[in-house]
Amino acid sequence: MHKDLKIMSVVGARPNFMKIAPFIRAIDEYNLKGNGTIQHILVHTGQHYDVRMSEAFFEALGIPDPNINLEIGSGSHAEQLGYTMIAFEKVLIDYKPDWVVVVGDVNATLSCSIVAKRLNIKVCHIEAGLRSGDMSMPEEINRLVTDRLSDLLLTPDPISSENLRVEGTPEAKIHFVGNIMIDTLEANRAKAEKLTIKEIIRKNLAIDTIFPQIIPNDGEYALMTIHRPSNVDSEIVFSNLINFLLTEVAEKQMLIWPIHPRAKKQLKKLGLWERVVRNPSLILLEPIGYHEMVRLNIGAKIMLTDSGGLQEECCILGTPCLTLRWNTERPITLRENGGASVLVGNNIERIKKEYINTISLDRKPSRPELWDGHTAERIVRILAKSI
Ligand code: UD1
Repeated sequence: MHKDLKIMSVVGARPNFMKIAPFIRAIDEYNLKGNGTIQHILVHTGQHYDVRMSEAFFEALGIPDPNINLEIGSGSHAEQLGYTMIAFEKVLIDYKPDWVVVVGDVNATLSCSIVAKRLNIKVCHIEAGLRSGDMSMPEEINRLVTDRLSDLLLTPDPISSENLRVEGTPEAKIHFVGNIMIDTLEANRAKAEKLTIKEIIRKNLAIDTIFPQIIPNDGEYALMTIHRPSNVDSEIVFSNLINFLLTEVAEKQMLIWPIHPRAKKQLKKLGLWERVVRNPSLILLEPIGYHEMVRLNIGAKIMLTDSGGLQEECCILGTPCLTLRWNTERPITLRENGGASVLVGNNIERIKKEYINTISLDRKPSRPELWDGHTAERIVRILAKSI
């Protein structure tokens, strides 16, 4: 057994933070047991930099401050990838880790795995093997290239392992470890349950909006998040969606919408901001913290989202979910496979039909194999044996 394994892990954007938190905790536990020492170095590329998109998650999830922040910030995809690669190469040359661990499918995942491989450093991908088949999504390209380069591919479900086999990945590299997001969900659920809806709204109300006259109770509101370029960047798609939300969804119940910076910018650009903030049934929030989101999810009658992570959390929590996409890299969360969500794309007629079907459903939690809260421990055991 190697006594001082050096692991560098990388985060860049919001959905990475809940995946890295349990991994770092599992390394600490491993070291405390005295089997050996894993030295861990955390790099933040700085793709997400707003307090509400980044720092707040470090604090809430107990993630230590990053050892290095590349401060990449916003830019086109090519700019983000390029600047990250230039900065990360210097870090790798300085630190020379045994492994670079990347998570998920954001730009940091791709750029850092390329640089590591060019320097002959082994790459471990947590959440490997997810495939939407949709090459117009930047995340799909990030996933494909990262997996092709990775030495250790840790999958959240057997479908993802099978995707890798079909692509010709050697069996020895593939390990089905479960879903690390669920480690975070299970570790934080009790804390989230203590929050009240009223407090969450009071503390996170979006700028320009006024405190709502009615605060919905559990089971009395729809919850929405939307940020994918395919939904918010097209004027026609986004304005039709807003129209549906304001007329059909918010007419019947309160709608709580924590708004992503990409969606907010687009609402303002399209002149829809005023209409949205003035609707009394719509409660518009700034991006909210992890516990706040779990709490709102627990009480929601229905979720409308284009986020992959929320789709997974709805599966465990049982919230009926409309996934505002035409495809998913997470088929295990779909109703047809025992989960809570249904794909509705961005066609309003289809959304309307499924919305009516789904609003009458009861909560139905389900737990795919190895989504048990112990994925990070399994990952650390595999890495510890790797040298
Ligand atoms: C990124 C990820 C996506 C993930 C999402 C979660 C990629 C390719 N995409 O998309 O997989 O689901 O994060 O949030 O990596 N911005 C801010 N403040 C911030 C961060 C961003 O205002 O802290 C603005 C940027 O200037 C930009 C927009 O939000 O205009 C989008 O940010 P960007 O990082 O390009 O991608 P996301 O859409 O957030």
